[in-house]
Amino acid sequence: AETPNGAKIFNDNCAACHIGGGNILISQKTLKKEALLKYLENYERDRIQAIIHQVQNGKNAMPAFKNKLSAEEILEVAAYVLQQSEQGW
Ligand code: HEM
Repeated sequence: AETPNGAKIFNDNCAACHIGGGNILISQKTLKKEALLKYLENYERDRIQAIIHQVQNGKNAMPAFKNKLSAEEILEVAAYVLQQSEQGW
């Protein structure tokens, strides 16, 4: 899905920790292609569903967003993350 809202949702909710597709808390757990593919290897789900799952539920130091963002917003931001990882941020 091409999502003009994805960038805004990302900037408002994710960039504090993931600016430029990085990770200011755990430097190797970025949203860049190589790290993201490694992360996605742990999941049976397809790629977009795996990202959606983490955004909904959070993990360790990453907060959950299921009470903050709508399902549509989470889908849009997940699609944005995948697209940006493909394009090299
Ligand atoms: C990991 C997405 C917001 C902190 C991840 C991963 C994804 C992701 C896909 C897995 C990547 C990997 O392991 O290489 C997002 C999105 C966000 C968001 C789309 C906004 C909706 C945040 C925020 C923080 C944060 C605000 C900090 C307060 C972390 C941390 C990890 C992580 C610490 C590593 C978790 C672990 O495995 O221990 N994020 N994130 N994220 N994110 Fe986020």
